Amino acid sequence: MSQTHKIGFIWFIPLLCFLVSTSNAEIAAKPGVNYGQLGNNLPHPETSVELIKTLKAGRVKLYDANPKILKALNKTDIQVSVMVPNEIIIEIAKNQTLADEWISTNVVPFYPHTKIRYVLVGNEILSQPDNVTWFNLVPAMIRIRKSLVSFRLRKVKVSTPLAMDCLETSFPPSNGTFRSGVTESVIRPLLEFINGTKSFFFIDVYTYFAWVANPAEIKLDYALLEPGKTRYTDPVTKLVYTNLLEQMLDALFFAMRRVGYPNSRIFIAETGWPNGCDVDQIGGNIYNAATYNRNVVKWLTRKPARGTPLKPTVVFPSFIFALYNENQKTGPGTERHFGLLYPNGTSIYEIDLSGKTEEYKKALPAPTNNEPYKGPIWCMAARGVNVTALAGALSYACGQGNGTCDPIQSGGKCFRPNVLRWHASYAFSSYWAQFKKAGGSCYFNGLAVQTTENPSFGSCKFPSVTL
Ligand SMILES: *[C@@H]1O[C@H](CO)[C@@H](O)[C@H](O)[C@H]1NC(C)=O
Ligand SMILES: *[C@@H]1O[C@H](CO)[C@@H](O)[C@H](O)[C@H]1NC(C)=O
Ligand SMILES: *[C@@H]1O[C@H](CO)[C@@H](O)[C@H](O)[C@H]1NC(C)=O
Ligand SMILES: *[C@@H]1O[C@H](CO)[C@@H](O)[C@H](O)[C@H]1NC(C)=O
Ligand SMILES: *[C@@H]1O[C@H](CO)[C@@H](O)[C@H](O)[C@H]1NC(C)=O
Ligand SMILES: *[C@@H]1O[C@H](CO)[C@@H](O)[C@H](O)[C@H]1NC(C)=O
Ligand SMILES: *[C@@H]1O[C@H](CO)[C@@H](O)[C@H](O)[C@H]1NC(C)=O
Ligand SMILES: *[C@@H]1O[C@H](CO)[C@@H](O)[C@H](O)[C@H]1NC(C)=O
Repeated sequence: MSQTHKIGFIWFIPLLCFLVSTSNAEIAAKPGVNYGQLGNNLPHPETSVELIKTLKAGRVKLYDANPKILKALNKTDIQVSVMVPNEIIIEIAKNQTLADEWISTNVVPFYPHTKIRYVLVGNEILSQPDNVTWFNLVPAMIRIRKSLVSFRLRKVKVSTPLAMDCLETSFPPSNGTFRSGVTESVIRPLLEFINGTKSFFFIDVYTYFAWVANPAEIKLDYALLEPGKTRYTDPVTKLVYTNLLEQMLDALFFAMRRVGYPNSRIFIAETGWPNGCDVDQIGGNIYNAATYNRNVVKWLTRKPARGTPLKPTVVFPSFIFALYNENQKTGPGTERHFGLLYPNGTSIYEIDLSGKTEEYKKALPAPTNNEPYKGPIWCMAARGVNVTALAGALSYACGQGNGTCDPIQSGGKCFRPNVLRWHASYAFSSYWAQFKKAGGSCYFNGLAVQTTENPSFGSCKFPSVTL
């Protein structure tokens, strides 16, 4: 009796371990998607959850704790990450009651049917100018963790996603070093928290931005993770890199090692490539976006699982950025073109986040903007935009610079046709021509678009920008 019992027991344990560890590795390897909502034309949460399933994403990361989305995720197998907004970090750091209220409102009602697994405190806090929040970050994380423990939400871990600018040196990767101004005050306590709670260092890592900052030195193929074309050998460690992502991740591992945490685990909180960009930007196109995202999925789901040259056995859980092109994101055009899907829910290119699709069928459009555009660019009012807002932007632009709008005054060479869109286009072009060098952009809250077609006619000459 006791004999059979024992045998049963011995057989049972290893089998269970095996099952648990396989499924963990599989879940870890299955990339997720970032569900950003900065668009005024995005599908409803229920539709979005269906689309996330169609993409075969293993997990989803939210930039808030939208109750409609958390409800739509009820009883799905998708693991969920929610986010505490940046604005309340300082308050939460001071007040346990507030932390408890946040968890009780945003996590408790949905757990466990909605598989919430991470509460991320803030987004890219060390990239924000407000340094008071920096020093409140880890204290707020400690309070959030304390709340989770008191509500017995044992499966939920706490972290915070940082951008690569948390490093002051990332090249060569063996030289990876955290910013000296935050190493002792923020990074060390953060790593201690992560180690003590078996959480992850969440990092937003974009080879696109590294390449754009230095296209002369970095090969596009290397940034796109195209296999076997370019190699880089770290002169100190002699580790050989075959793509820029591994290089950037190892720079972070080396930085963590310098602070005494060589074995902290990394979670790729965001990675991706833009499928479009402004005329004055490079490399944002469907071909590159499909290539990068397919390669990164392949890299993340390799079998057997592999890591980086420095950490060959670690598996990186991850989220691709982003579910949709988001038309209300500010900044250059790339910001509004990171989606896997158009806002109407159709895919921009074929992609299977499970890594199970080896070959995609449809041909991709050839890239045309991998090199800087050479020639004049004008900044025009977009079609079909809010006229009240457009009139406001026109008046703003005319108030900047010197004689910005003289030619569209009554009797001026560009006065006719005397219509708002024309005058606004002149004002935008004139503004941009004067302020581009000082960082001025052709955006005007989405009211302006760049064009390579010269709008000038007759004696009316529109000012232009040449790169
Ligand atoms: C902490 O937050 C709670 C809930 O908002 C509030 O009632 C309380 O006054 C706060 N305590 C302090 C010390 O600010
Ligand atoms: C999730 O589904 C379960 C089971 O159907 C249900 O009991 C629960 O109320 C649902 N939760 C929410 C937040 O809708
Ligand atoms: C925080 O920012 C302020 C104002 O920008 C600056 O004066 C101060 O030195 C900064 N503090 C630290 C610790 O970086
Ligand atoms: C490492 O970075 C430091 C500056 O942080 C620099 O002075 C040094 O030259 C770098 N080492 C190598 C091998 O590039
Ligand atoms: C990390 O945590 C473990 C316990 O889980 C502890 O033994 C170890 O010393 C910690 N590492 C550091 C660098 O503090
Ligand atoms: C979805 O939007 C894209 C981009 O605007 C467009 O090309 C496509 O035709 C649309 N598809 C449907 C089904 O509306
Ligand atoms: C148009 O823009 C104005 C000013 O920015 C705003 O007050 C108004 O609500 C907008 N109208 C619509 C329909 O969005
Ligand atoms: C406007 O003119 C003044 C004086 O000539 C000059 O200092 C300033 O830089 C000009 N501003 C722009 C935006 O060109």
